[in-house]
Amino acid sequence: MHISAELQQLFARVKRVLVLTGAGISAESGVPTFRGGGNTAVWKGMPFDVISSAEMVERDLPAVWEWFDYRRNFLEELTPNPAHFEIASWQERFAELTLVTQNIDGLHQKAGSRAVIELHGNIWRARCTACGTTYSMVQQKRPDACLECGEALRPDVVLFGEMLPPGAFEFAAALASQCELCFVVGTSALVYPAAGLPEIAKAAGAYVVEVNPERTPLSVLCDEVLTGKAGEVLPLFQ
Ligand code: APR
Repeated sequence: MHISAELQQLFARVKRVLVLTGAGISAESGVPTFRGGGNTAVWKGMPFDVISSAEMVERDLPAVWEWFDYRRNFLEELTPNPAHFEIASWQERFAELTLVTQNIDGLHQKAGSRAVIELHGNIWRARCTACGTTYSMVQQKRPDACLECGEALRPDVVLFGEMLPPGAFEFAAALASQCELCFVVGTSALVYPAAGLPEIAKAAGAYVVEVNPERTPLSVLCDEVLTGKAGEVLPLFQ
């Protein structure tokens, strides 16, 4: 794997870095991706974008919980990989490191990353369908109903057909427009608005680097494409 001298020098001197991650960064931890590379997720014959939809929450919330409880139990056994740990270590290295993820698996936090901007929510949280109160499910069961208002709880993740959490993207976009170096790791760059963040960084003059074993629609826009697995490529940065 060749990392250009220009990128190595940039990596050594910049202060403001933004990292955008997708399902691919967790593939080496055993988490199925949604599209390219790893095996694709289907539940009881239902494609993931059907069972993981706002419409399904309306129609059959217990089925949605069954799917997310299965995924959470599956994730419980999994651990972060060298890519997650490398990015966590960058918090000490760079004056301003912004980590934005599309993943709901919580593996960045398990690796020690703090202040992760979760664009699509987190599978370890439940949220009240009425008042929005959230409940952690890390080593604890969720209550049967909201303790504040008694209404039903749902997974605190962005489902198909839903908007992102208010402010999350805008906050990430503001930081993308100020970063000097932007890493795009393990995403097919097909889902917006997340895939728009590297475009914002590029337009603001940042050096954009893609890490992915496959090319994506974003590759043409990148200053450098590192073709490989995140767990093998990111630890090469010294
Ligand atoms: N290292 C780096 N990238 C990898 C690896 C790896 N070890 N293995 C696979 N990839 C790449 C694939 O080549 C693909 O481009 O990761 C990407 C995974 O793409 P998707 O499955 O589309 O995941 P993502 O881009 O995160 O999807 C975005 O879509 O389904 C919704 O809400 C869901 O957050 C998700 C969003």
